[in-house]
Amino acid sequence: MTQVKVRLDKAMETSMITLYAKAIDARMNPTILGDQMALRAIEKIDYDFSRLKAMNERLAPNAACRSRHFDDWTREFLAAHERAVVVHLGAGLDTRVWRVDPGPGVTWYDVDYPDVIDVRGKLFPARDNYHMIASSVTSEDWLARIPTDLPVLVVAEGLTMYLRPAQGHELFRHMVDHFGHGTIAFDAHNRLGVRLVNIMLKRSVGTALLHWPISDHRELERVDPRLHCVDAVSALLTSSRRSLSLGTRLFTHLIKPFPGIRDLGIYFRYTF
Ligand SMILES: C[S@@+](CC[C@H](N)C(=O)[O-])C[C@H]1O[C@@H](n2cnc3c(N)ncnc32)[C@H](O)[C@@H]1O
Repeated sequence: MTQVKVRLDKAMETSMITLYAKAIDARMNPTILGDQMALRAIEKIDYDFSRLKAMNERLAPNAACRSRHFDDWTREFLAAHERAVVVHLGAGLDTRVWRVDPGPGVTWYDVDYPDVIDVRGKLFPARDNYHMIASSVTSEDWLARIPTDLPVLVVAEGLTMYLRPAQGHELFRHMVDHFGHGTIAFDAHNRLGVRLVNIMLKRSVGTALLHWPISDHRELERVDPRLHCVDAVSALLTSSRRSLSLGTRLFTHLIKPFPGIRDLGIYFRYTF
């Protein structure tokens, strides 16, 4: 089998961390996400996975739980909208479109930097109504390629924290202007979360990459009053974590009263 050489820089390399986490989870019993495609993908890749020292069987289930949560929100949206558009911003090497496997009325767009999209094209097959857009989300051009005549769900899993706050604010404003109506689901870290993940990133990819903490849902409502937060849930308290070990669940229970720790990661959903 010809190996796919992967040399990704900076934020782009983090797509390898989440892919690797899903592959580790797929090998575990029980598995949270069961992403066999992620497992097959890492077997095809020529890359030194030992670089990702910080990812292991203890941490991988957290990444898998996050993806399962956003899969569930995507399925919920598609159950209500048979004809729709789904956009995954900062899609990296994620296989959500295959996990969710939407019906023929759904058009799906995965957006990421050109180098990441190039690797995606080598790892994963084409499918009907599925498009990849090679662009930074901070450029405005990608939006013009996405139609506005159907209900839209934008999922930005593991993306916003890599942007500068001003870039993030502009991105949300542009999406609201372009689509008019829709739903945006994304995750964020609070200040402590950004600091902790930056420590982990320094160990694995050699540099801190996160810039934008969000802990107050009103931040984006102030940026654009057309945005309404309908969900802000602690990543540690979601139902996707029910299958984690007893010790992990006990820890979660103990930290509930302490927002600084409880909200290290938050899953947000806004409508506009
Ligand atoms: C942690 S990975 C998450 C990948 C995927 N969403 C997942 O959950 O597996 C972050 C991704 O965001 C992408 N990214 C970061 N900043 C970006 C930008 N300005 N434009 C497009 N993609 C960006 C990176 O290239 C990377 O693929």
